Amino acid sequence: MSGGSPIHLLELLWVVCCAGCVRGNNLWEVPSRHIPSPANITSKLLWEPQCQTHLRHLQDGSRTTATIPPQLDGHWVSSRCEVRPGPEFLTRSYTFDPSPARQFKALQHYYSDSDCHVPAYSLLIQGRVRLRQASWITPGATEAEHSLHKVTLIIHNQRTAHRLAVHLPSSCLGPDPGAPVAPHRLYELYNIKAGRDCLGSLHVSMMELELLRIETRNHPHNRPTKELFLGDVHTDWSQRVHYRPTGYQEPLQNIMHHIHPCPVCALVYRSSLHHPPVLPPSSAVPLNLNGHWVSQRCEARPAVLFLTRLFIFREEHRSWEGTYAHYSDPMCQQRTFTLRAQGHYAQVESSAKVKGAAELVFKVTQAKVTVFERTLLRALNSSEDGGCGRAGGWQLGVEQDITWTAGCRVLGISLPHKEYELFKMEKNHKGRALLFIGERPTDGGSPDRPMRRPTSFQTPMIQCSARAPVPPRYSAHSTIQRLEINSACSQHSVFGILSLSLLNLWLCYIHHVYILC
Ligand SMILES: *[C@@H]1O[C@H](CO)[C@@H](O)[C@H](O)[C@H]1NC(C)=O
Ligand SMILES: *[C@@H]1O[C@H](CO)[C@@H](O)[C@H](O)[C@H]1NC(C)=O
Repeated sequence: MSGGSPIHLLELLWVVCCAGCVRGNNLWEVPSRHIPSPANITSKLLWEPQCQTHLRHLQDGSRTTATIPPQLDGHWVSSRCEVRPGPEFLTRSYTFDPSPARQFKALQHYYSDSDCHVPAYSLLIQGRVRLRQASWITPGATEAEHSLHKVTLIIHNQRTAHRLAVHLPSSCLGPDPGAPVAPHRLYELYNIKAGRDCLGSLHVSMMELELLRIETRNHPHNRPTKELFLGDVHTDWSQRVHYRPTGYQEPLQNIMHHIHPCPVCALVYRSSLHHPPVLPPSSAVPLNLNGHWVSQRCEARPAVLFLTRLFIFREEHRSWEGTYAHYSDPMCQQRTFTLRAQGHYAQVESSAKVKGAAELVFKVTQAKVTVFERTLLRALNSSEDGGCGRAGGWQLGVEQDITWTAGCRVLGISLPHKEYELFKMEKNHKGRALLFIGERPTDGGSPDRPMRRPTSFQTPMIQCSARAPVPPRYSAHSTIQRLEINSACSQHSVFGILSLSLLNLWLCYIHHVYILC
């Protein structure tokens, strides 16, 4: 750990990375890494069997496959009303021509309500996308470049016309700049041939096309589904036009191979610029967190981490426990470390910004870490005394409590810790409860102040057991009640655990430059 400053480190990594890019003959050679086999130690995980079964299926390589490079051609649609940071509510319908032309038409419908019931305006974005290479930053993803040809706007009602008129310079309003902005008229916001560019005024960006992944999921009793993952959108508005994604949004469904049933898919598929899909009123249900909740897939977090999550909530005691299993690969098969955290929460009020969602405050008071990967193990084991559990006491696959060292600096965890949250519950089409937890700030920070509270969601978790959970594992002498929560004490998020120091370690790890670490 005696390497140079982080900046120096990143510069070196950049050099290493670029050397790799130049050297590769085959663009589609997936970056390979030597991954030490995970330790063979069962951790003391006590959750319900059905949750365990569910998590095991997520790692089953025969169920999910990804083709690299992805076969983009076809028509891809949203399967629900999507929420982007802001919040913005939208549905998407994208078509890609077969290569080599690879022209795309992206139809985006924006709404003024969180049910996607009242259309506000729609954009038709036309351009071309060119696949580049397998991503080194986000394993399993493909990097691409896009160029825009034309962007057309249509506004669906008078209120939105008034609202957008403020943002649209008159030079963007076409042949008659003096005319008021009106609904049901087409406005050309961008035309490369005509040299017109009014995209900045509405923050329109298709940077999401710069990172792609297609997953095929095989289901035991159904036809396979195909899902298109496009790059994530920065949580900070001012960043989103320039941000090169490192994670994904909720996937789009291939119209020929979508999940069943998917009423929203059909509505979005049939929509057009003039006829936005009007989704049925929300399936949001009152928040009842009781039970066990588990990831529905191996989740990718912006900046390199793959993980599965398992949460246990006990409404009666307002207590929660989360198990975050981190992996180095997009199939969640190579474990790196597992974090178990617990604490309390309070429900404050329903959200004014996202209808049907609730605002909560979470306190993280205790955490334990198990490491399965040697580079990280060495880093934790050699961290200064009191910085992360017992220095020199880390062993592969053996859990350590990091509560008494107030967290773990190397992992960016600081305890106790407080987070301002946004939660929402819905039922899926099979009647199973889904839990949406707030999206983490893209900059790796934590929503530790009310003004940083998320306005959008991570990929939903599914309820795997509604049973009243077992009592907390920590003893009656636990320090939960005594720990004072100090919201100013922490910079990093346990729910979105990732810090720059971890990112550095990670980059070292994926580029074999162990010596730098
Ligand atoms: C893993 O467990 C199996 C079965 O208990 C054992 O045969 C194997 O040697 C173990 N591997 C390691 C690396 O400990
Ligand atoms: C952790 O550090 C201690 C003390 O420096 C050392 O004896 C031990 O071998 C290290 N463990 C591992 C797994 O590196």
